[in-house]
Amino acid sequence: MRGRRVFVTGHTGFKGTWLMTWLSELGATLKGYALAPAGPVTIYEQINGDRRWESVFGDIRDADRLAQEIQRFAPDVVFHLAAQPLVRLSYAQPLETWEVNVMGTANLLNAVRGLSKPCSVVVVTTDKIYENRGTPYLYRETDRLGGHDPYSASKAGTELVAASFRDSFFPLDRLQAHGVTIATVRAGNVFGGGDWADDRLIPDAIRAFSNDQALTIRYPNAIRPWQHVLEPLSGYIALAEALPVDPVTFSAPWNLGPWPQDHLTVYDIASRVATGWGGGRIVIDEHSEHVHEAGVLKLDISKTVDRLGWRPRWSVSEGIERAVRWYSSVAHGADAMTQCLNDIRDYSNG
Ligand SMILES: NC(=O)c1ccc[n+]([C@@H]2O[C@H](COP(=O)([O-])OP(=O)(O)OC[C@H]3O[C@@H](n4cnc5c(N)ncnc54)[C@H](O)[C@@H]3O)[C@@H](O)[C@H]2O)c1
Repeated sequence: MRGRRVFVTGHTGFKGTWLMTWLSELGATLKGYALAPAGPVTIYEQINGDRRWESVFGDIRDADRLAQEIQRFAPDVVFHLAAQPLVRLSYAQPLETWEVNVMGTANLLNAVRGLSKPCSVVVVTTDKIYENRGTPYLYRETDRLGGHDPYSASKAGTELVAASFRDSFFPLDRLQAHGVTIATVRAGNVFGGGDWADDRLIPDAIRAFSNDQALTIRYPNAIRPWQHVLEPLSGYIALAEALPVDPVTFSAPWNLGPWPQDHLTVYDIASRVATGWGGGRIVIDEHSEHVHEAGVLKLDISKTVDRLGWRPRWSVSEGIERAVRWYSSVAHGADAMTQCLNDIRDYSNG
């Protein structure tokens, strides 16, 4: 990444802030495009993101502005993370979720069409794009797309948009002419210091435990592929580096998940966070009506391990220990950026 021009959408979010921090450490020239950070606390503001790289606050649905910013920057690499990423919010705001996740991706890839230079694009989707069988099956990249809720289905739509642009405008047999390669990445549930989103297990747990309140969980037995945020980000970066070297192999979808033993239940994760925090009460809400969420979700990562050479480095236990340390240190006055850099350096050296 050193010396490369890298454009990141969604750079003000949780994963985006970690990615910008890591890319900056690697020596990339960065520009971010996203909505302004929103919420009472954001990791982006905690690390003073605006002072560290070029940042544009814009809507991914504003196709003209997005195209202008991409043209002006002329990136070598694009990471597309901007999205409405919450399942429960997608029930409350289905149209906005579809617009941002599907048309936002179409706007981005259409803007890349206007570049007259090679560009590697990594489009971030999710493990939830697979048609869920409700069994402990591990989904492979070749499995059928689906999605019950608007978030999952719109991200399956993101996959179709990416595949359609690849086939229609950036076919590999004309690579010399257009120079554009696209990979899509399907990662599991991530956590790490500085995620403050509502309705996510670990931020909810930290908010509850730090205020001496009980954490309420809705689906204690739901199984997910849990990972520290640096795990999928290392895969995104590895793919961006691999795309120009071997476009035929890497212009494709890729699962980025944990080893099978780290497909754990919500209750298991909540208990580990409570233990790491030094205590915390967990209450199971069995009575309220909840929107549908998949009961079991597991990813098969063998293709990514075999062909990309990527593999998970931190177990869920180690990742949770790191995340809890991040929240606890920052709550006690430590500098958020220093905590991120410590995690990135330890991860890179480990
Ligand atoms: N966090 C997870 O567990 C997880 C798991 C799998 C996939 N993902 C995917 O990773 C990506 C990043 O997720 P996150 O957890 O960092 O979410 P986040 O909510 O912290 O960040 C979302 C980012 O998208 C931007 N955004 C939202 N709407 C926009 C719009 N209309 N125009 C421009 N920018 C807009 C926000 O400003 C923010 O920068 C998303 O694509 C999400 O679907 C997340």
